[in-house]
Amino acid sequence: MKILLLGCNGQVGWELQRALAPLGEAVALGSHSASNPQGLCGSFTDLAGLALTVQTVRPDLIVNAAAHTAVDKAESEPELARSINALAPAVLAAEAAKLGAWLVHYSTDYVFDGSGSTPWQEGDATGPLSVYGQTKLEGEQAVASNPKHLIFRTSWVYGARGGNFAKTMLRLAGERESLNVINDQFGAPTSAELLADVTAHAVRAAMHKPELAGLYHCVASGETSWHGYARFVLATAQGLGWTLKAGPEQVGATSTASYPTPAQRPLNSRLHTAKLQQAFGLVLPQWQQGVARMLTEITGKQ
Ligand SMILES: NC(=O)c1ccc[n+]([C@@H]2O[C@H](COP(=O)([O-])OP(=O)(O)OC[C@H]3O[C@@H](n4cnc5c(N)ncnc54)[C@H](OP(=O)(O)O)[C@@H]3O)[C@@H](O)[C@H]2O)c1
Repeated sequence: MKILLLGCNGQVGWELQRALAPLGEAVALGSHSASNPQGLCGSFTDLAGLALTVQTVRPDLIVNAAAHTAVDKAESEPELARSINALAPAVLAAEAAKLGAWLVHYSTDYVFDGSGSTPWQEGDATGPLSVYGQTKLEGEQAVASNPKHLIFRTSWVYGARGGNFAKTMLRLAGERESLNVINDQFGAPTSAELLADVTAHAVRAAMHKPELAGLYHCVASGETSWHGYARFVLATAQGLGWTLKAGPEQVGATSTASYPTPAQRPLNSRLHTAKLQQAFGLVLPQWQQGVARMLTEITGKQ
């Protein structure tokens, strides 16, 4: 199988390079031409170049891990966000359809308005609150125009590589006696590793059973708030021997309203995952498991 992986340097893209390797020969592209072999184009602002790249590589599977993920910045650059999150995925879908190729894409809890406290199901009405959420929704819709698609909506992604919320909390707790963290947004921290591994399993299954094509929610099990997440991170880090000025008891709670940002975030980011677990026979581990693993991995490297 020939695989074209786009956005290979992001959190999820990096883990996909590992998880997809046993499935076939992969061409992995980042956004910058210097990092791309044979002059192939991985830039999502060059739509013609992207189409030509798919035509040149002729993959059986395209996996798109690229996105404009700077949620607040997207509010002031909606056209760029739309190009990366919606127009480029539309090009990938059109080119994949011509080749009869599978297209895997990632989307977000931000397609929902965050109301209520019930986990969102795949068929629930969307209502994005931000440019990021709106453009990601448009991207989903475009990708679904290729019959052979797998779209995974996820939330609160972290990886051992690059910056993330947990690392920010550790840095701040090393510098300050106390922290204040939002306690009225709820979701599940989900590791890039888990997303990549689920992707590899799902792709293999869908290739043998094309009726599995569709939209799935993919997050770790359980739920927490950013406040609960921060407290878990600091408690686990202390257990691993980190010296911190602020421990879990010094993490105060604050509300979203008291922390205004350019982009509005959904309060309820809970995603219901039964469809994915049943369709692919997978079990999604509790969110604490992946976070503890990531903290163990970075301990000693800070
Ligand atoms: N992070 C989260 O909390 C979160 C939550 C829900 C859903 N998601 C979704 O999960 C997927 C993966 O996210 P992630 O956390 O891995 O994102 P990430 O770490 O921010 O990586 C995004 C990637 O997109 C690439 N990119 C940005 N602008 C580009 C452009 N103009 N052309 C081509 N590539 C470009 C970047 O490439 P270079 O590094 O090469 O510039 C980067 O590798 C995305 O679809 C995202 O919307 C993420």
